[in-house]
Amino acid sequence: MQNISVIGAGTMGNGIAHVFAQSGYKVSLVDISEAALEKGLATIAKNLDRMVNKEKITAADKDKTLANITTYTDMAAGVGNAELVVEAATENVDLKLKIFKQLDEAAPEGCILSTNTSSISITKIAAVTNRPEKVIGMHFMNPVPVMKLVEIIRGYSTTDEVLNVIMETSKSLNKVPVEVNDYPGFVANKILMPMINEAIITLHEGTAGVEEIDTVMKLGMAHPMGPLQLADFIGLDVCLAILRVLQDGYGDPKYAPCPLLVNMVTAGKLGVKSGEGFYSWGHGTKDLIVADNFKK
Ligand SMILES: NC(=O)c1ccc[n+]([C@@H]2O[C@H](COP(=O)([O-])OP(=O)(O)OC[C@H]3O[C@@H](n4cnc5c(N)ncnc54)[C@H](O)[C@@H]3O)[C@@H](O)[C@H]2O)c1
Repeated sequence: MQNISVIGAGTMGNGIAHVFAQSGYKVSLVDISEAALEKGLATIAKNLDRMVNKEKITAADKDKTLANITTYTDMAAGVGNAELVVEAATENVDLKLKIFKQLDEAAPEGCILSTNTSSISITKIAAVTNRPEKVIGMHFMNPVPVMKLVEIIRGYSTTDEVLNVIMETSKSLNKVPVEVNDYPGFVANKILMPMINEAIITLHEGTAGVEEIDTVMKLGMAHPMGPLQLADFIGLDVCLAILRVLQDGYGDPKYAPCPLLVNMVTAGKLGVKSGEGFYSWGHGTKDLIVADNFKK
């Protein structure tokens, strides 16, 4: 496999393009927005510079990696000779279904179509194509160049052959693929989101404050960061959306999002991306500053 197309040049798409290009694949990076493509390429260059400065790669490796990436705003042109597509566009069911119909028409017959979705059913996405056996989930973690895991999600119709190709391709990126089946939240978010929700419930009930909850989980459970800080990084809107998928998908009230989380999203307090969540962001300091609402 040589030719990979990545759909979406945002947070995840540029990271995915980066790791494929650095591993020697020819990458076509596709986005509807020219500005997103420019920003994506600038992010890749910046991340490669950081690796050069840390002497993890050479300046020549950086140039080779960037030379492996071509950008497109026209999807049909961007996937015309793809052997594998990794879709990493905005998380929206209708959008993903539309993109997969287009990909099915534009990509070569043998091309495997994968998606980086965090929460949408692979089987549902596969069902709008004429090649459901060649549709699979490749759930990379953020930041992609750093995180080792790729959760590989087998749709209802995905064949063993396609699964094996994707497992081997993930290993060729120096990642560790883990095979899981297609049920709401897959494995990563089915376990992570209830933990984050429980941390928010614990705060809401007044059992402990923001720093106390995060410190218990950091120092007591050896998590690299606390669940409230992690929620701020992921985006509280994203956490809420995934909890709704779990709640709807399993029909189990244990996934019901904490009313505090719902309120914060309604108030536009989305975490790092909006400047405030459980912590206040954008102070140019490494210290975590608890948001005013949660100060004692
Ligand atoms: N951000 C994370 O931590 C994370 C982690 C794992 C998985 N994911 C998943 O990855 C996917 C992308 O998330 P993100 O955080 O990179 O989003 P993002 O908003 O940063 O980027 C999405 C990009 O998709 C582009 N796009 C929208 N419609 C398109 C179309 N029709 N064709 C081509 N490009 C299009 C947008 O212009 C944008 O540049 C989502 O499915 C998300 O659930 C995100």
